Amino acid sequence: MPIRNLHQKPFDEGTQDKLELYRDYLREWLPVFINGSFVDIIQIFDFFAGPGFDVHDNPGSPVITCDEIRNALTQTEKQRFKIKVYFNEKAATKFKNLSSYVEEQKISLPQVDFIAMKNDFHSAFNQWTPYMRGKVANLLFLDQNGVKQITKHVFQEIVTLPTTDFIFFISSGLVNRFRYRPEIRNCVPITNDDLSRMNGTNVHRIVAESYRRWIPDRLEYYLGSFSIRKGANVYGLIFGSRHPLGIDKFLKLAWKRGGDANFDIDNDRIDPLQPSLFSEYDKPNKISSFEKELETAVLKRHLTTNKEIYLFALQSGMLASHARKALELLVKAKKLPKQSFHVSYNAWKKPESERIQYY
Ligand SMILES: C[S@@+](CC[C@H](N)C(=O)[O-])C[C@H]1O[C@@H](n2cnc3c(N)ncnc32)[C@H](O)[C@@H]1O
Repeated sequence: MPIRNLHQKPFDEGTQDKLELYRDYLREWLPVFINGSFVDIIQIFDFFAGPGFDVHDNPGSPVITCDEIRNALTQTEKQRFKIKVYFNEKAATKFKNLSSYVEEQKISLPQVDFIAMKNDFHSAFNQWTPYMRGKVANLLFLDQNGVKQITKHVFQEIVTLPTTDFIFFISSGLVNRFRYRPEIRNCVPITNDDLSRMNGTNVHRIVAESYRRWIPDRLEYYLGSFSIRKGANVYGLIFGSRHPLGIDKFLKLAWKRGGDANFDIDNDRIDPLQPSLFSEYDKPNKISSFEKELETAVLKRHLTTNKEIYLFALQSGMLASHARKALELLVKAKKLPKQSFHVSYNAWKKPESERIQYY
């Protein structure tokens, strides 16, 4: 299977999109723990760190991580927490460059503990997971080449860690292309049914969804995904969190980029510069389908409170604002009376949920 060396050329547009999403999530995630008092240590693990830059000095994930920490620290007076950053990179030359960068950062960011290692991913993962438990918050960035590194064991270790969010990259297009190869089937939880629905466009969505099968029973967990297309290739990010606030923040960043892809994944053909006469035609398919699903779930009373509606939206890759809009449509169509509650993260935080009013 072809594996690209990302650092031999300048980062392409798809790589920039991936790294920008990582940057934006980090920017949202850091203040939650810097300004809160839930943890003593804030930790970022970049397991496939690369050298720090591409050949044109565009920032890679290690530089992004340090820049965002610097940024976040200038916006707070608090210093009761510790920040630890772990970088791992297996290739010797890249590790050498990474190490020089880390040495510079030790001087300009003395508040941060840096740990850099030149190991194979699995060895680094086994070595560092014991530090991921306790009064700590972890963000794991797993920017692998290809599809193979996030095995069932690794995935299940991560999702059962407390206060841990992850973002992992996967070359999903390879799953579609090499679908009959056992080495692909063995490392991604896809089924024959997934493969029958899979094509070159929806592949990452289906691959990302399939990881739900590896979430242990009864564990409340949220997954999100973002498909990235570059030329004929589709790959993407998979996000995971045990907390609604984590997935809420990730989905907001994804919807700012159009939903769950950096291209027209559902062939909606909406041109914002030339809106159609009927706004319904300018609604992405993903939103229309969600509105129908929410209507069925509410009218059949499978969802009966504002919290349930909020969590249903997040599990469907949608925001509280989409759920509110869907409810408004039901009120407008006189299928529900006007509701007095609000669907939002703040409402979710309140101890009591509010019940849906029916006719
Ligand atoms: C997609 S690149 C990561 C790019 C990096 N995040 C950046 O922004 O520059 C994957 C990196 O993982 C390294 N790598 C590949 N296989 C590895 C393994 N088994 N263990 C650790 N590192 C590995 C590669 O040398 C490469 O630098």
